Amino acid sequence: MADAQGNKIAKNFYVDVKPETKGFYLKGLTGYDWGVQDRMTRMFDKKSGHTVMLAFDHGYIMGPTAGLERMDITVKPLIEYADVLMCTRGALRSCVPSDSNKPIALRCTTGATLLNELSYECLGVDIEDACRLNASAMAIQVFAGAQYEHNSLDNLAQSIDRGLRYGIPTLGVTAVGKDMARDARYLGLATRVCAEIGCQFVKTYYCENFEEVASGCPVPIVIAGGKKVPELDALKLAFNAIRDGACGVDMGRNIFQAECPISMLKAVREVVHNGATAEQAYQMYQDLMASK
Ligand code: R5P
Repeated sequence: MADAQGNKIAKNFYVDVKPETKGFYLKGLTGYDWGVQDRMTRMFDKKSGHTVMLAFDHGYIMGPTAGLERMDITVKPLIEYADVLMCTRGALRSCVPSDSNKPIALRCTTGATLLNELSYECLGVDIEDACRLNASAMAIQVFAGAQYEHNSLDNLAQSIDRGLRYGIPTLGVTAVGKDMARDARYLGLATRVCAEIGCQFVKTYYCENFEEVASGCPVPIVIAGGKKVPELDALKLAFNAIRDGACGVDMGRNIFQAECPISMLKAVREVVHNGATAEQAYQMYQDLMASK
């Protein structure tokens, strides 16, 4: 009940102090609602403005893959070192402890496997289940230029509309089919299309002239790691991407297939959050391995 008596008399309205009016710290997202910005803040560190996402959603297309045969064994030890977990709801409910308290980028498309036309996807998770899982983002695969481009763009638009209803950002994941070039022209188009349709952030691949891709995309970009390469090369990839305008990495195979996945994840963090060079981070990786 509101008390009418005994209250301290309000006297300090700070009339000389102008209220804060500056924009949100991530590019292109100032105009969004509180819930979207709150979830983005959970995923992207406020100090560096960057994120290290751990991707282990590969099985939704590939089945058990090299390094992810037993997600309960492979992924669990890595969770505490990642900023965001990118996975399917099946992986989440079966292998990720609910007290991990990590932001989730929930893989929300389905409909194809490696055995068929990859671009023929549909939405595979209801917005209610994304809310139930407390997803911080919904990840939607986009196949620009592929046979079923239309389906994937429809999935993207629907996800964005549903996400906006509940304050959940959508991550547009630009897929590259077998015949598609991973060049700045193609990736620039794919990322820009995602952003124009309304994604709050986009995942793509690093390429030559990546700075043009990043600059032409009005919202944050994170890069995929791709196939396993030697650890130093993966760290160079992360370094180059951040230098050229990426706001983070969403790495899978180059983490969980590394000789020492936890040390690799820590080394990637040094590059992404603390400005280490690839060589410095690689030295750290080797030191961590030697100390085991
Ligand atoms: C992307 O579509 C995949 O599902 C993975 O999330 C992505 O490729 C990142 O993993 P990796 O670093 O292994 O390429």
